[in-house]
Amino acid sequence: MGLYIHLPWCLHKCGYCDFNSHATTANAFPEEDYVQALITDLVAGKDELQGRSVQSIFIGGGTPSLFSVQAISTILNACQQQLNLSSDCEITLETNPGTFEGEKFADFKLAGVNRLSIGVQSFDPEQLKKLERIHGRDEALHTVRTAQQLGFENINIDLMFALPGQTLEQALDDVAQACALDLPHLSYYQLTIEPNTRFHRFPPAIPSLDQAADIQTAAMAAINDAGYARYEVSAFSRQGAECRHNLNYWQFGDYLGIGAGAHSKLTVGHQIKRFQRVRQPDSYLTAVAQQKHVIQMRLLRSNDLIFEFMLNQLRLRRGFTRVDFEQRTQLCWQDTIASQIDHLLALGHLEQVAGRYFASEHAYRFLDSLLQEFLVETP
Ligand SMILES: C[S@@+](CC[C@H](N)C(=O)[O-])C[C@H]1O[C@@H](n2cnc3c(N)ncnc32)[C@H](O)[C@@H]1O
Ligand code: SF4
Repeated sequence: MGLYIHLPWCLHKCGYCDFNSHATTANAFPEEDYVQALITDLVAGKDELQGRSVQSIFIGGGTPSLFSVQAISTILNACQQQLNLSSDCEITLETNPGTFEGEKFADFKLAGVNRLSIGVQSFDPEQLKKLERIHGRDEALHTVRTAQQLGFENINIDLMFALPGQTLEQALDDVAQACALDLPHLSYYQLTIEPNTRFHRFPPAIPSLDQAADIQTAAMAAINDAGYARYEVSAFSRQGAECRHNLNYWQFGDYLGIGAGAHSKLTVGHQIKRFQRVRQPDSYLTAVAQQKHVIQMRLLRSNDLIFEFMLNQLRLRRGFTRVDFEQRTQLCWQDTIASQIDHLLALGHLEQVAGRYFASEHAYRFLDSLLQEFLVETP
């Protein structure tokens, strides 16, 4: 089981971002009320976990590093009291370098945070301005170096590519600077122009699809040469440093999500259910007080299950086994996808080695097309 905790505020809403995040100023958001609401949400939602062991907690946002040590510590103490946390539970905090203070992060570590995911995006000062980031290159480097000095061993940085006006050389320069930091984990996302963002309303000139593909090929080769394995579409790690929390999503495992707009996926008996929390932070606070914060409960039917399983598992380079499929979907392999898998193996879109099924190198580049094969209209 994983636990996701959503903290929905940022000091600035970046022009490209469609996350459930809302601009605020320091101390202007209702920190205390929100923390209390999260705890009420956790206490009410924990029955769904049936005492199962929680292997990872991911505090995401938004900008969780905006919250005080007191707030993060109260949340983690409640998790400790209410849940069955594994002794080596991975506890990640998402961090924006524009909110980094060394002393505060030393205390986050004491509060139990043992992994940082730092939103760097680029090391190019001009690019950071275009992306409307609230930090420059130096703050990003300072954040990473101080976190290392504080003894955080498990650190990820997020980088994006195909940025406005970005050349291949600039992208490779970002990658070289990231690899030089010698961190255990790196996430490398292609910038997407999402509806309902300022970048969508006022589109910047971004590299063409072909240029983006060239950047991706060259950058991923450089990341690979620096000793990282691409274990998921956008995730690279040193041996043993994969993100346990995200691996659970990609393996179609169960998770509880608390906080504004958070999603959950839970197996109850032989049924797999999805839930969502009220999205707007203010409405979420009111809804929690009335115990009406869970707004959606959807039972996944077999077609949804097959598609969602593939959507997640095929992102993993190592793919899945037949046992994974049957355990995670509660469906019978032979009665559902066996013939489709054989067909895709025959076409060379899937490969099978030692019982693991995974996308062929070519199909992995066009994963969306491969996934279409599993999309069946539910009547
Ligand atoms: C919730 S944010 C990370 C933490 C923090 N809010 C920050 O930005 O520093 C998650 C990550 O998603 C990525 N991301 C956000 N919007 C994106 C977009 N439109 N296209 C590609 N990646 C995006 C960024 O790399 C970002 O760091
Ligand atoms: S800081 Fe992160 S979550 Fe907030 S708007 Fe920017 S990318 Fe989105």
